Amino acid sequence: MLFSLKSLSIAVALLPLVVANTQDVQTRGTVPYYLVFLAQDTDSQAAADNTLERRLADPVIMINPTDANFGISAEAPGRLLTSADGTKIFAEARGNPAKPAIVFIHGFGIGAMAFDDIFNDPLWLARAYLVRYDTRGHGRSDKPTTAAAWVSQRLAEDFDAVVQSYNLVKPFVLGWSFGGSQIADVLSFHPQSYISGIIYDAGVPYQSALPTIGSPAGFAVVAGLNQTTNVTEFQSGYIDFINLCDPALDWDFYLACLGDGVVQPRAILNLSFTRTQNNTGLIQAGTTGALPTLAIFGGDDQVVLKQGILNALAGWQNLTVVTLPDAQHFTWISRPVLFRATVLNWIGA
Ligand SMILES: *[C@@H]1O[C@H](CO)[C@@H](O)[C@H](O)[C@H]1NC(C)=O
Ligand SMILES: *[C@@H]1O[C@H](CO)[C@@H](O)[C@H](O)[C@H]1NC(C)=O
Ligand SMILES: *[C@@H]1O[C@H](CO)[C@@H](O)[C@H](O)[C@H]1NC(C)=O
Ligand SMILES: *[C@@H]1O[C@H](CO)[C@@H](O)[C@H](O)[C@H]1NC(C)=O
Ligand SMILES: *[C@@H]1O[C@H](CO)[C@@H](O)[C@H](O)[C@H]1NC(C)=O
Repeated sequence: MLFSLKSLSIAVALLPLVVANTQDVQTRGTVPYYLVFLAQDTDSQAAADNTLERRLADPVIMINPTDANFGISAEAPGRLLTSADGTKIFAEARGNPAKPAIVFIHGFGIGAMAFDDIFNDPLWLARAYLVRYDTRGHGRSDKPTTAAAWVSQRLAEDFDAVVQSYNLVKPFVLGWSFGGSQIADVLSFHPQSYISGIIYDAGVPYQSALPTIGSPAGFAVVAGLNQTTNVTEFQSGYIDFINLCDPALDWDFYLACLGDGVVQPRAILNLSFTRTQNNTGLIQAGTTGALPTLAIFGGDDQVVLKQGILNALAGWQNLTVVTLPDAQHFTWISRPVLFRATVLNWIGA
């Protein structure tokens, strides 16, 4: 059972012995909150941790409405980091910092909340240190709309801010959907040794490959998503987009996805679709085998084309391809157990 964060301070106050692991507290450097839950699963590793689990989470912070974040007002566990150009980036970590770290990069138009099912899953938390952030232009982060804010180096710097804030050493990076292309930005400004491996989850490896990766149905919704004069077309475009990602989402999650669309200035679509990058670093990392890569696909994905992604990864020397049967674009929601096992086993967690 997972307690909400609001009930958490009470739970922590009542459970002083549970928070006795002061080493974790010191390494994080901020007043920690703990996610406390009773493991009710049969997973051997989680069971080995006894029935009462504890996990470190970031403090709950206020996100104040500003022009830069497009007026978001919210309260959430996480941190507002400052990227090199001053853009505020919302980030969050959960799980065990002593385990291998995975940084999750979400796709276009749906922020880091996309990964909620993973970040709330005790079996993930027991085996990895999970880090996610709202990429610029999304969710709780600032949403700059100048072209200068969307050059490749800015996106690499956002990733750097997350790596530095959480003291990550050679994390694995999971790029979902269009979020995959930001790994190419990172490797354009860092050596391959900066990260341990790449996980493309229905991921676009680099910007210039997008035209052959998006499905016709995927591209068909773009005009609606980019609509600035006709509200009806924007609304139906967004609904079509989320339904294309998965036509049978839980209502709350479906609304959250639509909400991430509403909090985003429309100019971000053009900026993120038309920006350019130098993918030489990525291509070298992949084709020399220096960076192991896992490419996961949903067997029923309606948004991206598997063959287009594989074509973009032609010549990759250390590539593992896994297709999850019947899975939609939200692969981990369609096949949570298989997805979890695929990723965690591959990273050796
Ligand atoms: C907005 O788009 C809808 C659907 O395409 C169309 O029926 C309607 O006429 C448009 N409205 C305007 C003002 O253009
Ligand atoms: C988005 O719409 C603008 C016009 O408002 C257009 O110039 C731009 O090319 C469109 N971008 C995409 C990626 O469709
Ligand atoms: C679209 O973005 C590009 C930069 O990627 C910019 O040069 C262009 O002016 C933008 N177009 C619109 C209509 O905002
Ligand atoms: C891309 O980066 C590589 C080094 O990784 C460099 O040699 C090349 O000149 C760059 N290409 C462009 C167009 O800047
Ligand atoms: C691929 O990468 C994995 C993980 O680093 C490594 O164990 C394996 O030996 C590599 N395979 C090849 C063929 O290099």
